[in-house]
Amino acid sequence: MRELIINPNEKQKTFFESNAKYTAYGGARGGGKSWAMRTKLVLLALNYNGIQILLLRRTLGELRENHLFPLLKLLKGIAKFVSTEKEFRFPNGSRIKLGYCDSENDVLQFQGQAYEVIGLEEATHFTEKQFIALTESNRISGNMENQSFRPRMYFTCNPGGVGHDWVKRLFIDCNYRNNEQPDNYYFVKSLVFDNHFLMKSNPEYVNTLMALPEIRRKAMLYGDWNSFEGAFFPEFDYEKHTCEPFPLEKSWIKFRAVDYGLDMTCCLWLALTEDRRIIVYRELYESNLIISEATKKILALSPRNEPIRYTIASPDLWNRRQDSGKSGFEIMTSNGLKCLQKANNSRITGWRVMRECLKGYNSLDSRPKLVIFRSCQNLVRCLPLLRFDEFVKEDAADTPHEITHAPEALRYALMSREPSFKKKSAPFSGSIYSFDNPASDNSGYESFIEY
Ligand SMILES: Nc1ncnc2c1ncn2[C@@H]1O[C@H](COP(=O)(O)OP(=O)(O)OP(=O)(O)O)[C@@H](O)[C@H]1O
Ligand SMILES: [Mg+2]
Repeated sequence: MRELIINPNEKQKTFFESNAKYTAYGGARGGGKSWAMRTKLVLLALNYNGIQILLLRRTLGELRENHLFPLLKLLKGIAKFVSTEKEFRFPNGSRIKLGYCDSENDVLQFQGQAYEVIGLEEATHFTEKQFIALTESNRISGNMENQSFRPRMYFTCNPGGVGHDWVKRLFIDCNYRNNEQPDNYYFVKSLVFDNHFLMKSNPEYVNTLMALPEIRRKAMLYGDWNSFEGAFFPEFDYEKHTCEPFPLEKSWIKFRAVDYGLDMTCCLWLALTEDRRIIVYRELYESNLIISEATKKILALSPRNEPIRYTIASPDLWNRRQDSGKSGFEIMTSNGLKCLQKANNSRITGWRVMRECLKGYNSLDSRPKLVIFRSCQNLVRCLPLLRFDEFVKEDAADTPHEITHAPEALRYALMSREPSFKKKSAPFSGSIYSFDNPASDNSGYESFIEY
């Protein structure tokens, strides 16, 4: 077997020596986080016979670049890589399995499995729900010789991202809740200046970080967790903006909003009440639907006795598709979804409208202007996860992409009610359904939502 020669810097040594239940490392760019993570896991695999280790990144591409290729090089002649299982097997029975969790539910694949050690690389790219789900798999596996080993998780992280708040709360603010034990959490801060290897081999990298826009520079060069704003919609309040489903009034105007993609189709059903509020009362949220299937599902979820005034959809649906020469709009229309309207895709204006809507109250009885049925689980889940874009002020980040579909559909829906976008003839004409209550058709409707 060949020898492994490693030379960790002082911060990396501190990280290696921690045996806290949860240890996080980094907090800025280039501090040697990824190196420290994979080296620590390899040391554990070599030192503890039969240890089971899981190393996760958010996407497969990141996993490959960041860890698979360097590990293949590092472990040549030391451990065997089994590509079908994406795992390194060591002669002493230890195993390092590589995984990724592209979408929220991908963590479920690890349920029922046991790993003494789990490494979350770029932990702020994971949601708190994913982290909590993974803690269930962090236990003694039964393969390990040393049964007194204390299961643990290691994290690397930078500020920003969908998991900014929970990582900051646990490792930076040390603000613990319920049964969280302070002794379980340990943070080792490291900056690019601590990474002597990088400072020597690529000193210009510091200048690159220096040249970043101020907010990002503070975070990525100095590890400032307060420079990034957290949630994109801090106004969203689960108690205030969601409710259990209740029967809708027949007189309320109903419409739909669609964000179509093969990776995810999100359709929301919305109602406008007489007291000028919007209720999101149903959602379709499903991946891998071709356009005709998505259309059928949308129609199947819309009962005949529920007239839909119009359906607003992302403008790219009007682009011709290379395969069929037809646009998504044509495919949806030919499959029976009529009255499709192109959404106004002005992102920043749209987010502003949404923010106002979340802040707004009905002046008569102080009820919130926007209410979402709790049965719309994906919209309720994704709205608070949305983060600020790190480069475009006032825009939301488009990663992780999975969480953007439902908020975008809601943005299209609310923009269809936005005053400057209103065209009397647009959303109201040509409904395939006969509208039950023509008297209320246009009167007062144009000014339903007051922004
Ligand atoms: N102790 C070390 N010995 C040798 N090389 C190291 C060491 N620490 C870090 N490096 C090297 O420094 C470079 C940057 O390290 P690494 O990729 O781990 O940083 P990072 O904090 O993960 O960066 P990023 O913020 O971009 O993810 C890499 O080439 C890595 O191999
Ligand atoms: Mg890294």
